[in-house]
Amino acid sequence: MLEQTTLWGTEQTRRVAPIRQGLLKWVGSKQKTAVPIVDAFPSRFGTYFEPFLGSGAVLGNLAPQSAVASDVFAPLMEIWITLSKDPDMLKAWYADRWQMMMTGDKVEVYEQIKASYNENPNGADFLFLCRACYGGIVRFRKRDGYMSTPCGIHSPIPPQNFAKRVDLWVRRTRGTVFRLADYREVFEDARSGDLIYCDPPYSYSQSILYGAQDFSMSQLMAEIGRCKDRGVFVALSIDGHKESGNYTFELETPAGLFERELMLTVGRSMLKRFQNPGVSMDGEVIADRLLLTY
Ligand SMILES: C[S@@+](CC[C@H](N)C(=O)[O-])C[C@H]1O[C@@H](n2cnc3c(N)ncnc32)[C@H](O)[C@@H]1O
Repeated sequence: MLEQTTLWGTEQTRRVAPIRQGLLKWVGSKQKTAVPIVDAFPSRFGTYFEPFLGSGAVLGNLAPQSAVASDVFAPLMEIWITLSKDPDMLKAWYADRWQMMMTGDKVEVYEQIKASYNENPNGADFLFLCRACYGGIVRFRKRDGYMSTPCGIHSPIPPQNFAKRVDLWVRRTRGTVFRLADYREVFEDARSGDLIYCDPPYSYSQSILYGAQDFSMSQLMAEIGRCKDRGVFVALSIDGHKESGNYTFELETPAGLFERELMLTVGRSMLKRFQNPGVSMDGEVIADRLLLTY
């Protein structure tokens, strides 16, 4: 495996093997396109910021020497912060719940863990739910943020396999500080020469996801503009959902904000599959757009 090297002072470049094993299952994970995304990053940059972290697929594939990774969703950040501060605790959270599931009725135990999470949203329950829920698609009821996904038909990975993933992700995130924060707060900390990778929620399909947060794409564009003006590199992923050759989600981007755009083909849409079980998804192709301010 090639390891990342520091070439000029504190600046960094990416040189690590692709990571294929996610710590979390997450809707909209960039697992499939993380490598081309990382390849599109500038060859040198200062601190790496990933303010819409989710399952951190790009972070894991970059393994930056110095980074700030954040998200506004508290149970999710509890998991990442525990990874960095007490990885054995993370392993125990998972193993305890897996053991309960294996020794009891699978669906009943899942529902108990879901009830515990819904009563008191927390990282320990959420970690297991995201690995055990149907299709790995965590859904929240819009009205009150209630986590509603039923139990998956698959068997969640055994604790020893999960523990190996924890060890791998600890190595990949050694240089990363994790924060619970809105992206706007984190943007303010980026300086000239730093890099921000944005993978915001997709407004057309993800209103049911991520705790039903409201999100303004035009505000994000304005914030990106301010970062560009002070010399920060910004890369923005946009979900380009393609149906029968037509894009159903077009994004207006302010003139002059982005210098380049790349199209990254991902495959078929998992979210659509979940919403329409049994319906053929032929022709439902996903192509992510990657917009670059540099
Ligand atoms: C498309 S997902 C990111 C997926 C991630 N790239 C991955 O590989 O798993 C979008 C994320 O943005 C987070 N989010 C939504 N609104 C936010 C905000 N205002 N500030 C920070 N994070 C936000 C959501 O909680 C969610 O985890």
